[in-house]
Formats: sequence, structure tokens, C-alpha cells
Amino acid sequence: MPPLSTSAAGVRQAAFRFRCIACGDLSDRASQDFRCPHCGDLLEITYPDWKESGSVAQDLKNSWRQRRLSQAAIDQSGVWRFRELLPALANDQQAITLREGNTPLYELPQCAHITGVPRLFAKHQGLNPTGSFKDAGMTVASTFARLAGFRWVACASTGNTSASMAAYAARGGMRSLVLVPEGKISWSKLSQALDYGAVTCQLRTDFDGCLRLLQELVLRAPVYQLNSINPFRLEGQKTLALELLEQLDWQPPDHIIVPGGNLGNSSAIGKALVEMRDLGLISRLPKLSVIQAEGANALVRTLREAGGKRLISVQAETRATAVRIGNPASWKKAIYVLEATGGACEQVSEIEIAQAKAEIGAEGIGCEPASAVTLAGLKKLVKQGFVKPGESVVLVLTGNLLKDPDFTMGFHRGDLFKGTADENASVALNSLRRPPMVLDATLEAVTGVLEQAEK
Ligand code: F0G
Repeated sequence: MPPLSTSAAGVRQAAFRFRCIACGDLSDRASQDFRCPHCGDLLEITYPDWKESGSVAQDLKNSWRQRRLSQAAIDQSGVWRFRELLPALANDQQAITLREGNTPLYELPQCAHITGVPRLFAKHQGLNPTGSFKDAGMTVASTFARLAGFRWVACASTGNTSASMAAYAARGGMRSLVLVPEGKISWSKLSQALDYGAVTCQLRTDFDGCLRLLQELVLRAPVYQLNSINPFRLEGQKTLALELLEQLDWQPPDHIIVPGGNLGNSSAIGKALVEMRDLGLISRLPKLSVIQAEGANALVRTLREAGGKRLISVQAETRATAVRIGNPASWKKAIYVLEATGGACEQVSEIEIAQAKAEIGAEGIGCEPASAVTLAGLKKLVKQGFVKPGESVVLVLTGNLLKDPDFTMGFHRGDLFKGTADENASVALNSLRRPPMVLDATLEAVTGVLEQAEK
């Protein structure tokens, strides 16, 4: 018999409804494309009974802490541990979980020195079961897919969503269909989807083309869509912020910095921060800032050139393939959380991304290129005076170093920027490169290298 889970005194899991982010329409049901039947905009999940829970913040905190001693699968999940703030399950056994979440918060002393921000931390979501933050959303959304009776789940992806979806579908006894842009995702991510049994289609288009097709497909075929348009995904991804605040003893940092691609994650973290404030779990909001690659800067341009009023799509191009997205689905949600928390939106170059990635790697932590935009962005925000040296900053590292070994090898071997406009500028990064050496198998050769490295 599975061990029993623990529950908070006087606090129950939440009944939920869908709310359209544009016209506010409330509904108990969502169509398969998760769009408002009236105006076509995105839906979010809302909890009508929550106001009464305002007085129980301390009960919640105690209960969440207590669950860390439990042997029950649902309590060992760093997502479902916070289930009072998630859509309710009829029973704990319904959750499909790989014990996701529970990711460490690291100090970054060397990067703190580089940026001049002494209180600098990394919340490393790359240490999730499939190596990215997607698992936190996928445990919730795949659970609700199975509860809705679907046999097939599907997503469009730059790689991490598909790896995560395939794993959770397999654990939950469902089939999975993956649509990825041909040639534009890393082998590591693609190989995960294959091993977890997904039917994998490499489409001759980009991520945005894959997502467009998926949106049509789910209206015609009985497949459940697991992109971050699906609001259950964002509910799971909210728990990153809950876990982070618990790790900081509920003292909010001054800044949280996240990469922006399709803009689901920033929206989810921002939603969590606002909910935590409204429920009395924290007393003030950290500023949530979003950083994009220059070549995939739709949100930056939308804010600068259209005042955030209409989306300016771009033809995305960046080596940080996880965020190679030009038409971000959750742009309105992201703008809402930027405004609600007073955060900034910045862009960083390919060289800045490569440098930041190597600097995080040199701390013994490592991440994939898309995650490193956070450190590169922080440097800019410090320069602009938006982040002050005395303030505390948390970078959200979204994916594991092992997700994109080609980028890392290219960087250290020195071919990452060969033949590109950045080739000359990339010479400035040479001191960070640690290329592997091929030597004769002699003591002299190896001691020679040691002596050289000491200089
Ligand atoms: N970092 C990594 C490692 C990602 O994989 C993604 C998105 C992001 C950042 C951006 O997050 O889209 O919520 O703004 N990857 C998606 C995928 C699109 O298909 O794996 P976002």
C-alpha cells in the first residue's frame, strides 16, 4: 500500500475555473485549443474560493515543510507538495509524478564578483528528472490529460517540452506525438523523446510553424495538447516560485530573472508571485525580469516599438535553440506579470550568451545556452542601474548543461562563431575556453600540459 500523504489543517485543494485573459469569461470547461470560445485569447486557471484562505498562510507553510518528511510519491514531488495552490485531484494516486521539482538554490560567488551583485543565486531547474523546468508543468498537465481520458498527448517543441512530455506520457501510460523543427533542436533533447517512446516528427519549419500546426491538429484529432498554451502547464511551473520562496524562508529576493521564449515560464512565475502576495505568503513582490536572445526578441520589440499593445513577431535565429521562437504565445500574460512586478525586459547577443554560459559553467554548475541569457541580462540590468549592487538576485537556470553538448564543445574548441559576423569579437572569450587536447600517452606530455596550465 502506498504511504499516506499529509494535508494542511483546514486547507483543501482548490476547485478551479478557466478565465479568459482578455474578456474575463469564466468557464468550467476548456476546448482542446485552450482558447476562449468568445474572443479566442488564452485561458488561465483561477481559484474562486481562495479569498477565504487568506488567514491560513502559516498553516500552508507548515504543511508544505512537513511533507518533506513524507514517503508518499505526491509529497516527494516538489510540485504536488504545494498542491493547495494547484487544481484539485480527487485522490493523490491520480498524479503522474517523477518526483520533479526539489531543485537546489545555489550561490554564485564568482558570477557575483563578475556582476558586482554579491547576493546572487541560481535556481537550477536543469536538475529536474528530464533536465529542464518543463517537468514541473508536465506533471500537472499530463495528469489532467489522463484524467480527461486522452490516449494521446502532443506538443510542438524546441526540444525540452518534447523530452518532458514524452517521459510523463510514458509514465502515465499514454502515447505521445512530438512536432519539432527539423535540424534546429539539439540531439540530446531529441534522443530523450525517442527513448521515452514518442512518435517524433521533424517538420520542415521552425518552432512557430510547429505550434501553428499543432493548434490545428488538436481541433481535428483526439490528442491533448501539452504546450504552455495549456494553462495546467503554467500551474505546475508556478511551483518554482513557491519552492524558491520557501528556500529563502519566505523573504522575497529583490529580483528574479528568467529567459523568455514562448513566455510561458515567466507568466507562470509571475502568476505565482502575485498569488503568493494575495494569499499573504509573502509581503512584497520581487521584480520579475525577462531576458531574450537578440535574434529572438519579440517581447523586447513588442514593448519598445508597440508599447506592449500588439505583438511584433520576428523571424527567430539564435544558437540558444531552446528560445528560437519568434511568435510567443503567452506574450500578453508575460506583459501582465512584468507590469505587476515592475520587472524589466532586455535582450542579449550571441557572444554575451556564450560568455555567460562559460562563466556559469566555471562555477561548477553549468546550464544550457538559453538559461545563460539570465546572467548576460543581469550584467546589462546592473549597467543600466535597474539592479543595484546591494540587491538580491535569483537567476532561473532553465536547462541542464548536458542538453546541448554541441554548443559547449563548439565554444571550447573555438568553432562556435567560425565564419559568422561574431568571429572577430569572439576572440575576447578565449580566456574562458578549455579545449580538449590530444597528446601522446607519455608522462612528459601530461606534465608539460600541467605546467602550461599553471602559468
Ligand atoms: N529555457 C529553456 C531551456 C527552454 O527550453 C525554454 C523553452 C525556455 C527557456 C523559454 O521558456 O518558452 O516558457 O518562455 N522551451 C520550449 C520547448 C519552447 O519547446 O522546450 P518559455
